[in-house]
Amino acid sequence: MKVTVIGAGNVGATCANVLVHKDFLEEVVLLDIKEGTAEGKSLDIWQSAAIENYSTMSRGVTNDYAASANSDVVVITSGLPRKPGMSRDDLISTNAGIVGSVTENVIKYSPNAIIIVVSNPLDVMTYCSYLTAGIDSKRVFGMAGILDTARYKAFLATELKTSPKDIQAILMGGHGDTMVPLPRYTTVGGIPVTELIAKDKLDAIIQRTKVGGGEIVNLLGTSAWYAPGAAAAQMVEAICKNENRIFPCCALLNGEYGMKDIYLGVPVKLGRNGIEEIIELKLNSDEQALLAESAKAVKEVMSVLDNMRMAAN
Ligand code: NAI
Ligand code: 2OP
Repeated sequence: MKVTVIGAGNVGATCANVLVHKDFLEEVVLLDIKEGTAEGKSLDIWQSAAIENYSTMSRGVTNDYAASANSDVVVITSGLPRKPGMSRDDLISTNAGIVGSVTENVIKYSPNAIIIVVSNPLDVMTYCSYLTAGIDSKRVFGMAGILDTARYKAFLATELKTSPKDIQAILMGGHGDTMVPLPRYTTVGGIPVTELIAKDKLDAIIQRTKVGGGEIVNLLGTSAWYAPGAAAAQMVEAICKNENRIFPCCALLNGEYGMKDIYLGVPVKLGRNGIEEIIELKLNSDEQALLAESAKAVKEVMSVLDNMRMAAN
C-alpha cells in the first residue's frame, strides 16, 4: 500500500519516519512546498533502512502531486505550527488556505484516498478538508484524540509509576483547552483509575492534559512532533491493516451525541474504509455538559471558516 504525507516539517517527517519503521507499506511519499526539504528528509530516512532493518521505500518531492497518485491514505500536516502566545485558532486563515489547496490536489490524484488531517486548528482544518474534498466524511477525519489521550496516559504513568502500556483511556471533544478527558473511562491494568489516585492529583493531571500542547510550545518555541507524528502513523496503520481499532478521532457528527454538522473528537472504530463506526458512549450529565461546551468552542471557530468561505464566494 502507498501513503503520502503532505508537509515534510516536524510532524510530517516524523510520521513518515515512524511509518517506514513499521514496515508494512510499499512506499511513503513525502511532499512539501519548500524546494528540497521532502527530498532531503526522505533520502535520510531511506538511508536508515539498512540500519533499522525495514524495506518500506521513502520518496520525497517538491509539490509534485503526480508522485502521490493512487495513495491509499494521505496525511495532511502542511501548515504553520503554533508559536508561544498563539492559540491553535490563530492559525486558521493561513492554514485553511493551505489545507484547502492541498486537499484539492490530493483528491485530484488519489480520488479513493482516506485523508487524515493533522494541521491546526485541527477540528476546523478537518472540516475544511472535508468541504473541499467532497467525499464521504468516513474518509476525512482528524488526528488529535490519540495524541491528547497519550499525554493523559503519560502523566498518569509518571504519577502512578506504571507503564503507559497498561493504561486504557478515552478523551473526547475539540483539540483545544476545552477537550474532555474521561476518568470514568480510564483504567490501569483493568483497575478504575479513581481507585489508584487521589481526586486532586487526577484533576491536576486532567488540567495538565488540556494544556499539554501549550506546555510543549512554551518549552520548545514551536509545537510538538514526536507524539503527533506517531499518533498519525498509528491511525494509518489501523486503516491499512484493517485493524478495526478504537481510537478517539475528530469525526463529522451526524446526530451522534445529539450533534450535527460538527467535527469533534469522539471514539471511532478505524478500519480499511476509514471510520467504520462512531461509538456513542453513555455520558453522564457532567460529561455531556463538558462535551457541549467543547462543541460550542469548535463551532465558533468553524463559523470563522464559514464566514471566510462566504466572503471568498
Ligand atoms: P512545520 O513548520 O515543521 O512543518 C510544516 C510544513 O508544511 C513545512 O515544511 C512547510 O514547508 C509545509 N507546507 C506549508 N505549506 C505547504 C503547502 N501548501 N504544501 C505542502 N507543504 C506545505 O510544522 P509542524 O510542527 O510539522 O506542524 C504542522 C501542523 O500540524 C501545524 O499546523 C501544527 O499546528 C499541527 N499540529 C497538530 C497537532 C494535532 O494534534 N493535530 C499536533 C502537532 C502539530
Ligand atoms: C499539540 O497539541 C499544538 O496541536 C499541537 O501539540
